[in-house]
Amino acid sequence: MRPPHDRLSSEQRRGDPGTRDLVLEHVTYVNGRTLLDDVSVAFPAGRVTALSGPSGSGKTTLLSIAGGLLEPTSGTAELAGREMWTGSGDPRQEVAFVLQVYGLVPILSARENVSIALRARGTAPADADEAAEAALARFGIADLGERQVEELSGGQMQRVACARGFVVGAEVLLADEPTSELDEGNRSVVLAELREEAARGAVVVVATHDPAVVEACDLHIALDEGRVVR
Ligand SMILES: Nc1ncnc2c1ncn2[C@@H]1O[C@H](COP(=O)(O)OP(=O)(O)OP(=O)(O)O)[C@@H](O)[C@H]1O
Ligand SMILES: [Mg+2]
Repeated sequence: MRPPHDRLSSEQRRGDPGTRDLVLEHVTYVNGRTLLDDVSVAFPAGRVTALSGPSGSGKTTLLSIAGGLLEPTSGTAELAGREMWTGSGDPRQEVAFVLQVYGLVPILSARENVSIALRARGTAPADADEAAEAALARFGIADLGERQVEELSGGQMQRVACARGFVVGAEVLLADEPTSELDEGNRSVVLAELREEAARGAVVVVATHDPAVVEACDLHIALDEGRVVR
């Protein structure tokens, strides 16, 4: 028998195993002061959700909790009923990040930086390298694979960071301002690739200041001073 509508939506909010949505309920994060205040949001699988808000409004903090890098002071972040916080700050295998600060290893090549994301997940080195080449190509930087990251421009590094986040085909992709250093053409490429990830069923969240990026997403959540304002 079909459960009543209110029960269904309540189960979805709780992230029951039938849904692959990423669900945050009453998340508060206090570090000296309150950085997130009672945030309840659902990031659906198969959709690109924009997370906007002024600088300092809590976007990076929210993505960090959503991806299991930070433990919420109270409240929960769950994927299919499983807590994202694993107790160590190591994210689950299901999660990939494009970090705002890139997090690349400067003395490794662009290809090695992408490849290590897969090797860390157990992919054989040759296969990881091949996938890394393909991921760099998605962002128009296949020709930079051999180049050391410290010899790249800011926008090129940002695209390597995108390649590293996208290459793993994760169930949850959390991209923190992935287009902030890019020209319009490359921004369009990243947006198209974000859509591609959602099309294969991933939860995709993109933190951004850019109205054009918000416009291109399926859903929009806005933060201000640690609270959801839309
Ligand atoms: N480790 C920390 N300890 C204490 N406060 C922090 C810490 N990290 C961030 N903050 C503060 O938390 C607030 C939210 O920061 P956060 O980085 O989440 O904002 P943001 O919306 O991502 O901003 P931006 O658009 O500049 O990237 C800011 O006021 C920031 O100064
Ligand atoms: Mg940020």
